[in-house]
Amino acid sequence: MVDALGLGLGLTLVVIVVALHYSEGTEWRTPDDISQEVLERRAETVPETDFPEPMNRSIGGGGGAVAVGGGAEGELEGEDEEEAGFDPASISDDEVEYYEIEYVNEGETIEVANNENLLDAGEDEGWDLPYACRQGQCLSCGGKVQDGNANEYVQHSNNETLGEDEVEKGYVLTCTAYPTDDFSLETNETP
Ligand code: FES
Repeated sequence: MVDALGLGLGLTLVVIVVALHYSEGTEWRTPDDISQEVLERRAETVPETDFPEPMNRSIGGGGGAVAVGGGAEGELEGEDEEEAGFDPASISDDEVEYYEIEYVNEGETIEVANNENLLDAGEDEGWDLPYACRQGQCLSCGGKVQDGNANEYVQHSNNETLGEDEVEKGYVLTCTAYPTDDFSLETNETP
């Protein structure tokens, strides 16, 4: 009888030990190494760049650029110059010319150099002219050449807001417009 009880207890203990041995418990498991996965995901979010291939130093493929030749490069340079706009700093002292600009609303005619913009010239007279960015990026400083197509009277160092048709109607950005002729200007005019 006692033996049977001891045997039963022994068997129960064995069963418990075996069950504990195979149970998973809450042991700490080292996470899988996901660094490679993270790197790949990050790489997917970065746009492809035009890094030159080894032995190919021209961006976008050296072979093609060589084949295109000098003519096309010349055209590209020309386009860049056009987009960059006129640079008043490139006018040397002996190239500076002055034009008679009538500021209609202010009721005065002043001389403005071809390396001075219409806004600065007006402010030098003490006039409170409108402006915001002073970089050709808004319309706050807009004015209008009374005499017609503004292309014939000013050149812009930067114009990011006026369309070509608006410039042809006489509109200018006074903060980036430099005179190339005499004309009458209405300040505070926008299309
Ligand atoms: S002040 Fe913004 S374009 Fe002249």
